Amino acid sequence: MKFMKTLVEIVDRHQMDEQVLARAGQILKNGGLVAFPTETVYGLGANALDENAARKTYAAKGRPSDNPLIVHIADVEDLPIVARNISDKAKQIMEQFWPGPLTLIFEKQYIVPLGTTGGLQTVAVRMPTDEIARAVIRAGGGYISAPSANTSGRPSPTSAQHVFEDFDGKIDMILDGGNVDIGLESTIVDMTVDPPMILRPGAITKEMLEEVVGEVTVDVTLLAEETTEAPKAPGMKYRHYAPKADLTIVEGDVVDVIKAIRQLAYEKTRLGIKVGIIATSETQEYYSTGIVKNIGTRNNESSIAKNLYGVLREFDQEDVKYIYSESFNSEGIGDAIMNRLNKAAGHHVIQATDITKLQKYRRVLFVSKSDNSRGPMAAELLRNENLEQEYVIGSRGMVVLFPEPANQKAEAIMRSRQMTLAEHEATQLDEQDLDDDTLILTFEESQKWKIVSDYENVKNVFTLGEYMDDDRVVPSSHGQPLNVYGENFELLRELIHKLAERLNEEARNI
Ligand code: TXA
Ligand code: MG
Repeated sequence: MKFMKTLVEIVDRHQMDEQVLARAGQILKNGGLVAFPTETVYGLGANALDENAARKTYAAKGRPSDNPLIVHIADVEDLPIVARNISDKAKQIMEQFWPGPLTLIFEKQYIVPLGTTGGLQTVAVRMPTDEIARAVIRAGGGYISAPSANTSGRPSPTSAQHVFEDFDGKIDMILDGGNVDIGLESTIVDMTVDPPMILRPGAITKEMLEEVVGEVTVDVTLLAEETTEAPKAPGMKYRHYAPKADLTIVEGDVVDVIKAIRQLAYEKTRLGIKVGIIATSETQEYYSTGIVKNIGTRNNESSIAKNLYGVLREFDQEDVKYIYSESFNSEGIGDAIMNRLNKAAGHHVIQATDITKLQKYRRVLFVSKSDNSRGPMAAELLRNENLEQEYVIGSRGMVVLFPEPANQKAEAIMRSRQMTLAEHEATQLDEQDLDDDTLILTFEESQKWKIVSDYENVKNVFTLGEYMDDDRVVPSSHGQPLNVYGENFELLRELIHKLAERLNEEARNI
């Protein structure tokens, strides 16, 4: 394609520059391409009644020409010019939801070229709310085809910057109206059938439509993961929203989802593979490896819709190899969010518990008498081992009266081995430390029995030796000279190395 100069104009919704709009209108009337914001996503506008303009649109997007375009209008009176047989139900729906994020399919009028409808005898029509969109549609002659303004196969654009990334040098003009409001494409409803059928979910939900016209059905190809049937909206058959990385959706209870994603991210990261994580405001702090992006808040699904495509685009720029996404509530707009996310993932969905069951322990705690020497040393040694699964590693004491720092001789020994316990504060063992995915390792038999008798239902409490079938015991060095600390440290180092091997072996055998 020939390189052209792409004009970018910032447009203020509340004070639109008439000259800029007139210019956009002129370009459209001459068969050119102008990208503009709508409340859903940015659209790549062209004259819908001009077959040649449609051809240009397909070429610019790299889109297959059997994938029809949506005709955008600014006034409901213009509908009969492009659509025939407008039913009462359609009128009721329009009355309620137009202008808005809703596209309706009708039989087409002769005036709409087959180039615009991808060869179909039906036409998709939408009347957007966005003031800039409506002004551009009017300026361009009233009938503007506008697919999402992205290169075919990339996430739809939710800002002018996204449009610029894909189309600089390929289209005549971009109108920059800032970030869009909704962030997902319009709901598409086929009004040529009764009951009406949803071909693409969006901000206007099935429930909202049913309140107005009674029963509404959903295209089966939207629901099924794999089907031999062609979707009723031709565009839905393409794997549209595909990020460069391999995207997996992790489903389940949010606590399990976090554990599973942590586990997967740790596994990849330790092999030097870059990982991205799609998290929410509520969950992002729980991830410690990988590039974590906050997609919005679980308290407001709209925020997730708004950020979804932007986040996918950002990951395309980082060179992550895998992306793990949390899954979201599918109520309301959540249905559309999960539809787009599933498409982006090529329907690659896994159950969190299928992953979490592959890791037995998530925390290892070393328990000693006062948590100021053997325990913290063991913890620090284990942190320095090469572990195939991720553990939160710590230490506790049976009797800790106040949070003392580590014993000075223990610290001197650690320093001489390029390690430190400077951050350590002794902590008393308590009930909360005894959950099912914590492995508790004591130094002495008596400590183990004390824990077992003090608390109910404790699992996973072993002496270090017992856990590894090794009867060597690391004695307390308390009150002994430095060289005894040193000798005990060496024994501890050997045992912890063996422990790491044991944990790795167990991880492989689950
Ligand atoms: O929110 C939106 O709808 C955005 C903004 C720019 O308005 N536009 C948009 O257009 O998403 P596009 O081209 O990316 O997606 C149009 C979808 C495609 O899946 C296409 O197959 C379907 O609408 N479609 C268009 N005409 C159709 C028809 N006559 N019958 C069935 N599906 C149709
Ligand atoms: Mg699209």
